[in-house]
Amino acid sequence: MPPDDLLNRRKFLADSGRLLVMISSFSALSCACTSEKKGEPRLAGLVIDQGRLVLDLNESLYSALNTIGNGLKLEITQQEKPLIITRVSETRVAAFSSQCTHAGYEIMLPEHGVLTCASGHGGAFDLEGRVLTGPPKSNLASYPAQLIANRVYVTLFS
Ligand code: FES
Repeated sequence: MPPDDLLNRRKFLADSGRLLVMISSFSALSCACTSEKKGEPRLAGLVIDQGRLVLDLNESLYSALNTIGNGLKLEITQQEKPLIITRVSETRVAAFSSQCTHAGYEIMLPEHGVLTCASGHGGAFDLEGRVLTGPPKSNLASYPAQLIANRVYVTLFS
C-alpha cells in the first residue's frame, strides 16, 4: 500500500473511531437520512456496528447499489470527505474514500464506470478506486467491502 493511502486511512480510521463514540452516546440513532452537496445525494446518520457498516440493498436508500456501475456517497464524519461505495459486478462492491490522492478534492460519483475528480485537474479512477488518469499517482484509500445476500458490509475499523 503506498504511503499516501496509509496516511489517509489512518486519519480516516481515527475520525471514524470518534464517530463511534458519538453514536454510542446517542444509541437511538438508527436511520439514515439524505442530504445533497454539489448536486450529489449523500447519506448521513448511519449506524456503524463494531467498526462495520451494513447496508441492506432491499432498502430504497441504498437501491442504487443494485445496478452495476452505480455508486453511493456516505457521510461518515462531517470533517471528512464522504465514503464512496460502488457496485463493481454482480457479486462485488468496493468502498473507498472520496478524497483525491492528488490534492484532496472530492471525487464525484461514477458515470459510465469512471469516477472523476471535482478539481478539474483531470484525475479519474475506476469503480474500485484505482487511478485511471493522472495527476493522482495513488489509488483512493480503500476499505474491505463484501456483498453477501444483498447486503453490503464495509469494515471501517477493527
Ligand atoms: S485533486 Fe484530484 S486530480 Fe488534482
